[in-house]
Order: sequence, then structure tokens, then C-alpha cells
Amino acid sequence: MPIGIFDSGVGGLTVYRALHNRLPNERFIYLGDTARVPYGTKSLATVERYAIENAEFLAARGIKLLVVACNTASALALPKIRARIGIDVVGVIGPGARKAVEITKFEANPRVAVIATEATVASSAYADSIRQASEKTEVVQTACPLFVPLAEENWTHEPETFSIAEKYLRNIVEFAPQALVLGCTHYPILREVIQQTVGERVTLIDSGEACAEETERLLAVKNLANPQKITGERRLCDDLDHFYVTDAAERFARVAERFLGAKPAKLEAVEIFGVDKLEN
Ligand code: DGL
Repeated sequence: MPIGIFDSGVGGLTVYRALHNRLPNERFIYLGDTARVPYGTKSLATVERYAIENAEFLAARGIKLLVVACNTASALALPKIRARIGIDVVGVIGPGARKAVEITKFEANPRVAVIATEATVASSAYADSIRQASEKTEVVQTACPLFVPLAEENWTHEPETFSIAEKYLRNIVEFAPQALVLGCTHYPILREVIQQTVGERVTLIDSGEACAEETERLLAVKNLANPQKITGERRLCDDLDHFYVTDAAERFARVAERFLGAKPAKLEAVEIFGVDKLEN
């Protein structure tokens, strides 16, 4: 069975890439909720509803494990998703937070900064998860909403991007953290701008990478890894992986090509029917 992944849109492709690179023997089904993106500015109730609908859509297609690639959905809706579907669920918050604690654990005064969407910052999910793993770690969080459209436009080295990054990250530079969590699916695309702005001494943590490591561990512990070797060379977006979007498939394909260097071989536009709609 494949592993299911969902995100509010295209950003989760960075998490798909991390999973695909680490687990070349697995197949993936990806759902990008492009009709309802962004989640980062929406309320708890709305994000929970969308997240449950996405999880149920993937569960109905037969998956052995669900990865919630969207940081906002992970921060706000993980307990509700877990309660609703009877399969193991991996989010991005816990793995990213634990990685930050691991990297800073030998510091006399560990300091971790988190950048994320407005909803993720307001939920305090990263800060809570970091403090749960290490009480002595100081945490500062900042929302960087404009990073999402900049990443989608592929403005990865433009002067405007640098000046926006300087403004957003000023308080983080003053805080001088040892580690900075990229707590939004899109931020790894802007990695170089972010690294240059905060300085080389700050370790950037891609929560997608951390999530892929945790997924690998969970597959082993639960004995869920594919026992048969997939023969031949695996490529990102090859025809073993299936992509679904809720709108604008053409745009998704273009952005996927920019992010991953390839368009999905199998891409379908679908409508996600709400649970309420189905019941009525
Ligand atoms: N995928 C979202 C996240 O990681 C970013 C885009 C959005 O706001 O939906 O939080």
C-alpha cells in the first residue's frame, strides 16, 4: 500500500521530495488542496474540517500511513485527524521540534527560533512541543506570510525577497538562536535567502526532512515498510506516485516542475466532498 500525504497546496511537495529521497522503495499518494489554500490565515474550525476531509479522501484510497505535510494542519488538526482515521499519522511539528532540541541540547542557553504561518504561530504548537522536549530551551516565533507567495513565484534570489526577509527576521537575528525551524512547507524553497539573512552560524531545520526521518522509523517499528524492492530507477513524480489536486491542476504541474524538476506523471483534479455534504 502507498503512503498518503496531504498539504494545503503545492508546498507539501518539499515534504514529498524528502520522503521520496529517503524511502525510494515506497509509493506515495499526494493530495494538494489547491482550491482552499491558504490554510495559514484560516480559523481552527475551518482548518480542522479541511484536514479531516483530506485525510478521509486519502484513507478511502487505501494508504498504510498518513503524512500531514502541512504545518498549519499539523499544528491545528492532528488530534482530530487521529481520532477520525484508523491509520498511523505523522505530522511535521513534532519531528521538527525534536530535531531542534537535539541540535541545541549541548548549548548552555539553548535558543530556537521558529518561522511559520500566522495560524501555526498563533497555535504555539512548535513552541509547546519544543518546551515539552526541553524546558530550558528559549523559543521565539515569527509569522512570515509573504514567504508563501514568494516561494510559489520562485523569487528565491530577488532583492525584494531579501528585503522582506530582513524585515521579518530582524527579531530573530537579535535573538541569536542556534537553530531556526522552517515551520512552513514553502520555506525550504527560500532556504538560501533565510540562511544569508540570519547568518551561517544558525542551523536551519527543514521540518519536512525531520518528518521523513520519523516516517522511516515508524515504518520499521510498525513493520509497514514495503518488503519488495521496487526495481529500476525511481524518479520524483514518476508513475508509481499519484497526485490529486482540488483545483488548477495545470498550475500545480508547473510549480511542481519548478520545485522538483519534474511534472507529475499521474495528476488528477478531484472534488473533496465534505462529510456533511455526503451525509445530507
Ligand atoms: N502548507 C502551509 C503550511 O505549511 C503553508 C501554505 C498555507 O498557508 O496553506 O503551513
